[in-house]
Amino acid sequence: MWQMLSPTALLLLVSAGTRAEDHPKAKVTLDPQWNRVLKDDEVVLRCQGSYSSEDHFTQWFHNGTVIENQSSSYSIAAARVEDSGVYQCKTALSPLSDPVQLEVHTGPTIPPDSPLFPSWIQVTFCLVMGLLFAVDTGLYVSVQRDLRNSMRDQKNVKVTWSRGS
Ligand SMILES: *[C@@H]1O[C@H](CO)[C@@H](O)[C@H](O)[C@H]1NC(C)=O
Ligand SMILES: *[C@@H]1O[C@H](CO)[C@@H](O)[C@H](O)[C@H]1NC(C)=O
Repeated sequence: MWQMLSPTALLLLVSAGTRAEDHPKAKVTLDPQWNRVLKDDEVVLRCQGSYSSEDHFTQWFHNGTVIENQSSSYSIAAARVEDSGVYQCKTALSPLSDPVQLEVHTGPTIPPDSPLFPSWIQVTFCLVMGLLFAVDTGLYVSVQRDLRNSMRDQKNVKVTWSRGS
C-alpha cells in the first residue's frame, strides 16, 4: 500500500499532518456563556478554529455524534432537555476541540399535585370552614348572651314580684 503511493503523495500526507498539528485545537464557546440554561432558552454555540481556503466547513459533535449542521455557529432557538450533553467541534485545520458541557434544565415549575402547595380548592375549603366556624361561634356567643340576659330578666322579674307582694 505504502509502496503504491508516489513520493509526492507521501509528502502531501506528511505536510497535511504537520499542518493540522501547527494549529491549536478548535474551541467551542457558548452564547450566553452559561453551561446551565433553562428549557426554551436560546443558546448559540460557536466554533473558533482555522479554516482552509477550500474548506469552510465546521464539524459539530453532540455526545460524540456528528450533527448535520456545518456552519461555524450552531444555534438552538428553544433548548430542549435532549439538547443537554457535550459539544465538540473541529474545522479543516483545527483539531477536535475539548468538550463543552451544556445542561438544559426544566424551569422551577411546581407540579400541580405537590402537597406543599395547596390547590385553590383546598384554600377555598379552609376559608369556608373558617367562615362557618366564625359565624358559629358568633351565634353561640350571642345565643348565650341572650340566654343570660333572659335569665337575668327572670331574676329581675322575680325580684320585682317579691317587692310587689
Ligand atoms: C443549520 O444550518 C442552517 C444553515 O446552514 C441554518 O439555517 C439552521 O438554522 C442551522 N440549524 C441550527 C440548529 O443551527
Ligand atoms: C446527550 O447526553 C446528555 C447527558 O448525558 C443527555 O441528557 C442527552 O439526552 C443526550 N442527547 C442526545 C441527543 O444523545
